[in-house]
Amino acid sequence: MAPVYPLGVNIVIARVSGTIYAVSGKCTHMACPLFTGFLEGHTLTCPCHDWRYDIRTGRFLDAPELGLTVYPAKSEAGKLFINLD
Ligand code: FES
Repeated sequence: MAPVYPLGVNIVIARVSGTIYAVSGKCTHMACPLFTGFLEGHTLTCPCHDWRYDIRTGRFLDAPELGLTVYPAKSEAGKLFINLD
């Protein structure tokens, strides 16, 4: 995982099995930086209090009504593109 800040937006990116994922970089609990967390498969775990998210959907696994913003992302010609709309 790595933090990126396109146009100042705090995003964490990760590649899982060749697919790029991009989600908001702050945990919805107390805003800990998620890039310092852990990624196992598609499960992103916050380093502060272990809230777990599905990096594909952004959903908090213990309460799916909560979640991270998901940004469509792709890698092309050696560059990373993240759609902020
Ligand atoms: S800040 Fe992420 S679980 Fe508390």
